[in-house]
This record gives sequence, C-alpha cells and structure tokens, in this order.
Amino acid sequence: MADKEGVKREAVKVDKNYYTDVPFKTNGNFHVKGAANLDWGMKKHLTNIFNPKSGNTVMFAFDHGYFMGSVSGLERLDILIPQLIDHVDVLMATRGALRTCVKPNFRKGIALRVSAGSSMINDDLSHELVSVDIEDAIRMNADCLAVQTFIGAGGQLSSIDNLSKVINAGARYSIPTLGVIAVGKDMERTSQYFKLATRIVAELGANIIKTYYCDDFDEVVAACPVPIVVAGGKKLTEKDALTMAYKSMLGGARGLDMGRNIFQSKYPVLMADAIGKIVHNKYTDKEAWEFLNDKIKNSGK
Ligand code: 5RP
Repeated sequence: MADKEGVKREAVKVDKNYYTDVPFKTNGNFHVKGAANLDWGMKKHLTNIFNPKSGNTVMFAFDHGYFMGSVSGLERLDILIPQLIDHVDVLMATRGALRTCVKPNFRKGIALRVSAGSSMINDDLSHELVSVDIEDAIRMNADCLAVQTFIGAGGQLSSIDNLSKVINAGARYSIPTLGVIAVGKDMERTSQYFKLATRIVAELGANIIKTYYCDDFDEVVAACPVPIVVAGGKKLTEKDALTMAYKSMLGGARGLDMGRNIFQSKYPVLMADAIGKIVHNKYTDKEAWEFLNDKIKNSGK
C-alpha cells in the first residue's frame, strides 16, 4: 500500500537475537545483574537479598493479604512466619504484617510491599497507589520496595506513575525497587508479554523484577538487564512446583519469590528447603523432589 509520500513500503521482519548463551556483559565484579554501577548502599541492600555465593535468592511472599485478605495458609502469620524465617533469604510482606506478626530479631532481607488499592472484589485490580512513604520504608529497614505494575491493563498509567515515584524515592536513599509484573485474568502468560513488561519495568529503573515462568523464558531473562525472580502463582503439586522452580533457574532466573506453593503446601518448611536446594545448590527438580520425600519420610508426618 502506498503511504502519504506515495512510496511503497513493505513490512520487513527483522529477526531478534537474544544471545541466550552469552553472559551479561556489564556486571563488573558484583554478583547482581545490572547493579555494578550502583552505589554502596544499593549494593548492600541487594546483597541482603541475593546471596553473594550463589548470586540467587529464595524470597518468601506472604503479602497476599494486601488485596486477598486472609487466604488459605496465611490465616495466622504469627504462627507461620517464625517457622519459615530460617529457611528463606527474604520476607516479602506488608508493613502491617511485619510490624504485628514478625519479631525484628531476624537477619534476612525484607521486600516491603509499598503499593495497594485493589481487592479481590474489584473487577479491575490494576488501579493502585503508593501506600507507604519512603520514610516508613527506611524505618522498616526495607531492602527493596515492591510495586505492582500492570502493563497493558486499565491501570497501566497509574502503576507506571507509582513505580516511577517509588524508584525516585528509593534512589534518594539507596533502596532498590522490585517491580512486580501483574498479569490480569484475561491476559496471556506468553514470552511476548513478559518480554515487553519486564523490559519496560527494567528500563524505568527497577532493580529487580518479579514475573512468571513462561516458554522461551531464557529469552525473557536475556533481554532484561536486571535480575528476574519467578513468582510461584497458584498452588501446584509439590512436584510440579519444584519443576517450575528448576526450569526457571535453568532459564536464568536468579531465584524464586514464592508464596502459595510454600505456605499452602502440607510441608511449608520442607518445601522452602527443597526450593532452596534448587536455587542455591544446583539441585535438579528430581533431586529436590527426592530430598523433599526423604525429609517427609524422616519427619514421620
Ligand atoms: C501479588 C504478589 C504476591 O506477593 C505473589 O504473587 C504471591 O506469590 P505466589 O503467587 O507465589 O503465591 O506479588 O501480585
């Protein structure tokens, strides 16, 4: 078809190359992707999240109450969380849950949920605001600030506004931002979508991205200049959850940020340990499954 100038243009498809076998080039000697040029404070917080030996992390997400209320498994945070703290690297939670149900005498990272505004009875969950100011995040000693980001949804503009405000505030005090890619119920979990969303959020300045596992996950990771941690999502069988975790790590994830597949398991602590074996000790899913079964057998439960 001729355009305004009468020149016939044809769409030319240009192939993409993610160089999935080529390591990230600008890491310097720091263990967190994309963070080599950040300052000391940022690097210290990132080191509280990503183990400097493995470069990876097991984040335990129990911030569901901020929009789902008391979901199954999280009815009593005061009972559950003390059991799990020693088995994960980072607690991802709201300030309300942390202040009321978790004693401050633990030495793990904190991913503080700082966006809110939706609830399960909304039709559209994509409209949020920044609910925690930077001074309170500093008082909580947060190692990163977690913001829900809805790319392609009704609330895209406001969530990018929230994300940008949090990144700007975090940058003033050297606190990294974790961009949480949200997927609406009508949206597809394709690599095409995750490549778009993760890249947008990284280019806006997020230091860590949480997203879902998908086909061609290694390409999503390769095109994203900051570390990706994978969300667990709805409860799967333990075996399937371990396989998803293993495939994520194989695809280049730097950890898991898992909630329901840990706290809705009959064996939350052992499940957290099994995930840790995959994340930090290079276990395959089969090895982690055997580890889990051995531990269950020995526990007599
Ligand atoms: C909500 C979140 C939650 O923290 C997270 O997704 C919950 O983890 P899981 O899906 O593994 O239960 O970020 O968007």
